[in-house]
Amino acid sequence: MKPTHKLLFVLCALLVLGFIYYSSWKLHLYVWGQKPLLAESQGGFGPEARIRTRSVYPVITKSQGGIRSKARIRTKRGYPEKDAEETSVALTKGAEVKRIAELENDINVGRIVSSGYDKQGFLLQLETKLPPELAYKYGNLSEGVCKPGYAAAKMTSIYPKFVKLAPMFLDRNFKQHTKIKNYLPPFGIKTQERIIDNILSETKSFGLGEDLDSLSCKRCIIVGNGGILYNKSLGSRIDEYDVVVRLNGAPIAGYKRDVGTKTTLRITYPEGAIQKSEHYEGDSLFVFSAFKPIDFKWLKNMVFKEKLSRMEGFWKSVAQHVPRKPAEMRILNPYFIQEAAFQFIGLPFNNGLMGKGNIPTLGTVAITMALHNCDEVAVAGFGYDMTSPQAPLHYYESVKMSAIKESWTHNISKEKEFLRKLVKANVITDLTKGI
Ligand SMILES: *[C@@H]1O[C@H](CO)[C@@H](O)[C@H](O)[C@H]1NC(C)=O
Ligand SMILES: *[C@@H]1O[C@H](CO)[C@@H](O)[C@H](O)[C@H]1NC(C)=O
Ligand SMILES: *[C@@H]1O[C@H](CO)[C@@H](O)[C@H](O)[C@H]1NC(C)=O
Repeated sequence: MKPTHKLLFVLCALLVLGFIYYSSWKLHLYVWGQKPLLAESQGGFGPEARIRTRSVYPVITKSQGGIRSKARIRTKRGYPEKDAEETSVALTKGAEVKRIAELENDINVGRIVSSGYDKQGFLLQLETKLPPELAYKYGNLSEGVCKPGYAAAKMTSIYPKFVKLAPMFLDRNFKQHTKIKNYLPPFGIKTQERIIDNILSETKSFGLGEDLDSLSCKRCIIVGNGGILYNKSLGSRIDEYDVVVRLNGAPIAGYKRDVGTKTTLRITYPEGAIQKSEHYEGDSLFVFSAFKPIDFKWLKNMVFKEKLSRMEGFWKSVAQHVPRKPAEMRILNPYFIQEAAFQFIGLPFNNGLMGKGNIPTLGTVAITMALHNCDEVAVAGFGYDMTSPQAPLHYYESVKMSAIKESWTHNISKEKEFLRKLVKANVITDLTKGI
C-alpha cells in the first residue's frame, strides 16, 4: 500500500469507528424498549438502518499501523443482513456500507476473538444474576409473572451478537430474507423458492393465530422426548405455558400426567411425522422443518392432499397423509437451523452445505426459534443421562440409553455445551434439569 492510501484507509476506519460509537449509543436507548418497528428498508439502507458491532464494544486492534474495526450491518427487517461470506452483496449498497463491508472482510481474515467471550461469542463468565439494566426492568416483577422480552434480553447479555428479529415461519416475503436465500436446505431455501411459493399460496396463514399473536408476553416451552420426563408429573406445569412445542411423533395419549395435554406447535420433518392420522392431537399447528430438498416436495403433497409422488430419498418411511387443513400448516424458518449450527453451536460450516456432524437436533432448532419469538423460554425432557445406560432413552418407549448410536448428522456433545450456556445464564429454564 502507498503511504497516501494507508492514510486514507486509516481516516476511513476512524470515521467508521465514530459512527459505530454513535450508533452503539443509540442502540442502547432502544435495546430493551419496545420491539423495534419493522421499517421498510427495501433494497437500500434508509435512515433506519443501523450498524451494530459484533460485541457490545467495537473490537479494535492495531495491525500494520492501521486501525481496523469489525462492524456488522443489519437492517431492522428481521434478518442480520450480512456476514463475511456475503459481503460482496453489500457492495451495491452505498459507499459507507461498502467501506464497512470491506473492513469486515479484512478483519475476518485473522479472526479476532475479544477477551471475555468464547469462540462462539458467548460470555465466558455466565451468571444467573441479571445485569443491572435488566435487574431494573425485571427485578420488581413478582415470581411467575411473564417478563416481556426477557429471553432475548438475557440472551443478548451473554451473546451480544444476538438480534431478536427472525420470524417463526416463512411468509410471503421469504425471498427477501437475505440470510436464507443463499443457502440450500437445511440452512436456507435456495432452489426451493417455487415450491415454497406454491405451498404458501395454499396455506395462506403465517402466524400462531390471533389469540397468541396478540399476547403482549408469551411463555413458551419446548418439550423434548427424553426419558428424563418419565414419571415426573410435570404435565400440569407444561400445560400452563402459552405455547407448548412438541417434536416429531412425541405422543401425549398415555403420558398426560408427565407431558401435559396441550400442543400449540408440533414441529416435524417427514420421517418424524406421525404416520397414523388418529394419533394427531386435536388442534395443533403442523410445523414443517425441512432438512433435504425432497422434504419440500413431501410437504407440498401433504398440503395439497396429493398422493405422494415418490418415496425415494427418505431415510425411513414417511406419513402419507397429514390430517391438517392447509391453514394449519406452517414452514419453520430455516434461519434457526443455520443460526443454531454455525453461530450458536459452532458446527462445521462445510461451505454452507449439510455435512458430517453439522445438523443441529430438532430440539435445539426449536429452542433457537423460541429465543427469537417468545418472551420467556422453558424446556423439559432435554438431555441424555449417559451415565445410566439402563435409563429410558425416550419417555414413551422402553429403548434404553445404551441403545444410543453415534450420530453422523448431529454433534450431541457440542450441542449440549451450547444448551448448558443458556441454562447456566438462566436464558432458558430447564424443568427436568437434564441439560
Ligand atoms: C423497582 O423498585 C425499586 C425500589 O422499590 C424502584 O426504585 C425502581 O424504580 C423499581 N423499578 C421499576 C422498573 O419499576
Ligand atoms: C414413579 O414415581 C413414584 C413417586 O413419585 C414412585 O413411587 C414410582 O415407583 C415411580 N414409578 C416408576 C415406574 O419409576
Ligand atoms: C463433535 O465436535 C467435536 C469438537 O469439535 C469433534 O471432536 C467431534 O468429532 C464431533 N463429533 C461429530 C460426530 O461430528
